[in-house]
Amino acid sequence: MIYQIYPRSFADGNGDGIGDLVGTTARLESLASLGIDAIWFSPFFKSPQKDAGYDVADYKTIDPLFGTNEEFYDLWAKAKSLGLRIIVDVVPNHSSDQHELFQAALKAAPGSAEREMYIFRDGQGAKGEIPPNNWESVFGGNAWTRIQEPDGTLGQWYLHIFDSSQPDFNWENPKVREFFEGVLSFWLDKGVDGFRIDVAHGLVKQVGLPDVQGAATHVTGEEDQATEHPFWGQEGVHEIIRGWRELLNKYDDRAMCAEAWVLPLSRMAKWVRPDEYHQTFNFGYLETPWDRAALEKVVTESLHEFGKVGAPSTWVLSNHDTIRHTSKYGSPSIPMHGMGIGPDSEQPDEALGLRKARAASAFMLGLPGGAYVYQGEELGLPEHTMLEGKYRQDPTYFRTNGEKVGRDGCRVPLPWEANGGASFGFNTTGKSWLPAPESFKRYARDQQEGVPGSTLELYKRLIKERKQFHLGSGEFRFAPEYSSDSTLGYINNGVLVLSNFGPDSVNLPAGKLLVTTQHDLTVEGVLEHDQTVWIKL
Ligand code: NOJ
Ligand code: CA
Repeated sequence: MIYQIYPRSFADGNGDGIGDLVGTTARLESLASLGIDAIWFSPFFKSPQKDAGYDVADYKTIDPLFGTNEEFYDLWAKAKSLGLRIIVDVVPNHSSDQHELFQAALKAAPGSAEREMYIFRDGQGAKGEIPPNNWESVFGGNAWTRIQEPDGTLGQWYLHIFDSSQPDFNWENPKVREFFEGVLSFWLDKGVDGFRIDVAHGLVKQVGLPDVQGAATHVTGEEDQATEHPFWGQEGVHEIIRGWRELLNKYDDRAMCAEAWVLPLSRMAKWVRPDEYHQTFNFGYLETPWDRAALEKVVTESLHEFGKVGAPSTWVLSNHDTIRHTSKYGSPSIPMHGMGIGPDSEQPDEALGLRKARAASAFMLGLPGGAYVYQGEELGLPEHTMLEGKYRQDPTYFRTNGEKVGRDGCRVPLPWEANGGASFGFNTTGKSWLPAPESFKRYARDQQEGVPGSTLELYKRLIKERKQFHLGSGEFRFAPEYSSDSTLGYINNGVLVLSNFGPDSVNLPAGKLLVTTQHDLTVEGVLEHDQTVWIKL
């Protein structure tokens, strides 16, 4: 079970309102008590933080905002002593515009070796005033920005699939490959257990950079495998991955997980063929509603498609880019990816959302494969849906003029202590880069620790039983004999996981009740709507 730490929102040691490594180190024991195996850190490298660290200016140095490399090594030593493995986030599709390579490219002439590290092109039109093609940024607006040449004239354009502060590397250039092999080797030599690779489906652009048909989105969303997209899921990506895999194979027991928003799952599975990634985030699963038929379908397809290439499936319900699943399930309709939920949106039903989220988490954590948990979901945190515009930092919000509120709502700092001041124990000063909603007081970790029936205790119990029965590597089958039109059951290593999607209650089958998402563990007998149980048969 891998736990995602979003460093700026986990715990703040120096009280400046932004989470950091010292703060994280101080909270590591509490985290380890959840029973997790590994931590994936979202990027904490040197960065102007235009996209919360996904704009890297130096891949080998920790940003002073979070601490120093030494502080990371201290954190790591402690994590090791607690039996936790460490996964770092590598961002190879683009760097920050402040990276020395991009700065050198700006200073060099068109066509120079420096410019060849990125994707610079002349514009169209008599004066080159029209962008080289029609590509749009994932965050909104044009994917090209025109620069001022060193002599002061308006000149070439550079490509940025994300923010203008995130120029895309030119992966056709062997020097870019060498550069990233250097980055991976650096961290492998230091001993990291693995990598999460950002935008793993976007590195290679179609030759000639042809116009895209239709709007660019983060997800390919194409059901038809023959349809080509000029920058998502290009075949050339796989050769790069194979090179990295060869590199990792030279080390003991290292793994890499792809962030590849590629659908359908049959296509996503190509990313985890035996000589490619070890895992890839199952975004098909993440996007599945809490619905009996849809879940049965996506689990069947995932196990089938990943099984075909001999890879484990992964399971994930929330991360720092998506609406927290508590709020998603409490919403009348699921907002489009990247849209977010803001004060003007229809507000989610918090209690119903939490109930469904707990049931969904219990459904997920019983499945075989790699499970990913995003910080705060173990507390049942909702999205901050009322965050005012003045606090927002996600480039999506600015690049769409507020039309999409973006992802800040799932990135609010964690509440540790209900009476821990305005930031609920995130630090001792009360400062917080995003203010927590008042409701976070109820969700604070100290309100849940040791409290039967709390979401935190539920997660602890689920993770403990998952380990105990080796469900991560278990023998799975759906259990039609325990399922009905409104319930879905599966059996993994002798544990029946049974969910009721409602509306009516049903009687529980015989067996030892291991976990239930709605009562404390002493109450047995019925399975109510939007509830999951684990039963040892
Ligand atoms: C995916 C990351 O998860 C997201 O947070 C980031 O904005 C984009 N990639 C660009 O790096
Ligand atoms: Ca700090």
